[in-house]
Order: sequence, then C-alpha cells, then structure tokens
Amino acid sequence: TERPYVIDEMITAKAIAARIETLCREIVAEFGDTDKLVVVGLLRGSFVFIADLVRELDLPIEVDFLEASSYGDATESSREVRILKDLRGAIEGRDVLVVEDIVDTGHTLNHVTHLLASRNPARLKSIALLDKPSRREVDYRADWIGFDIPDEFVVGYGIDFAQRNRNLPYIGKVRFT
Ligand code: PRP
Ligand code: MN
Ligand code: MG
Repeated sequence: TERPYVIDEMITAKAIAARIETLCREIVAEFGDTDKLVVVGLLRGSFVFIADLVRELDLPIEVDFLEASSYGDATESSREVRILKDLRGAIEGRDVLVVEDIVDTGHTLNHVTHLLASRNPARLKSIALLDKPSRREVDYRADWIGFDIPDEFVVGYGIDFAQRNRNLPYIGKVRFT
C-alpha cells in the first residue's frame, strides 16, 4: 500500500540542459588537454545525467560505471558504503570524472572518490547534478554542482522514489496528498 502523492516540477528539463552546457564549458576548460577522460557514472541514479553530460562534452572520453550501495546500520552517521559493481577499466594514470545525480549525506560520493583516488588516477574530479548541503554528514563537496537544493524529496531525471519516476525528464518534488 503506497501513500498517494503528486509530483511538482522543481527544475525544468530546459533549466537542466542550460546548466549542463555551462558545466561542460568548465569541465572542458579543466580537462581540455586530456588524452582521454574516463567518465564514471554511479549506478543507477546517474544514468540520465551522464548521458546528457557526455553528449555535451567536447572531449575524447570513455564511459564506465560503478555501483555502490549504502545502508544504514544502527547509526546513520556511521553508514557503510559497499561496492556492488566495480569499474571495468583500470584508472591508474588516467583522468577521471565521477558523475552523480545527487549528494545527500555525502557518504556515497565521499567513499567512491576516496576509493578511486587510492588507484592513483592522474586527475580525479567529481560532478553532481544536485546537492542538499543541509543533509551533509561527512565533509564532502563535489567539484561541480548543478543545483543546490533544499531538503525536499526529489525524483526524476534518474532519481527514484522506490525505484519509480526515474524517467521523468525534469526534477520534481514529491508531495503527499
Ligand atoms: C542515491 C543517489 C546517490 C546517493 C546519495 O542512490 O543516487 O547515489 O543516494 O546519498 P548519500 O549522499 O546520502 O550517500 P541510491 O542509493 O538510492 O541508489 P540509486 O542510485 O540506484 O537510486
Ligand atoms: Mn545513486
Ligand atoms: Mg535511489
């Protein structure tokens, strides 16, 4: 039995596309001299963002994916992050950009970037479409952020509510009715 809800548009598809153009100009300025940039999407939420991002990135790239799962044990702040699916390729000496849909407590991206840094990439940067700074439990900030948002329950553009609504072309907020 699901609580009924509606979804109110919060960030339009047009606003997302405009923001991605700006972010990509900055990424190209940073990585313009790369021989190849490995763009790493965190499954599953980043799949829409990474698809739009790489098509706007005028750089030689490779795409790889990694799946991490965070689960709460007794205290949320000691959350562990496990790697469910690792990268296919080695990243030692490579330029790497980690792509995430949203940073909430920060545990996922914090853990993943530390893990990837331990593999000695040449350069390692991160980008998140959304950030909820008010929810942070670890001191982590992505190198690029699309939009800072308040602590709302958001869905769409890859982000799910109980695995639903990932296919909405915009970011919406859930409102229970
Ligand atoms: C969500 C989201 C981020 C993470 C952010 O993923 O896509 O990956 O949580 O939370 P954090 O900053 O508190 O770690 P989720 O675990 O729901 O998996 P999904 O991407 O498959 O939906
Ligand atoms: Mn995720
Ligand atoms: Mg999820």
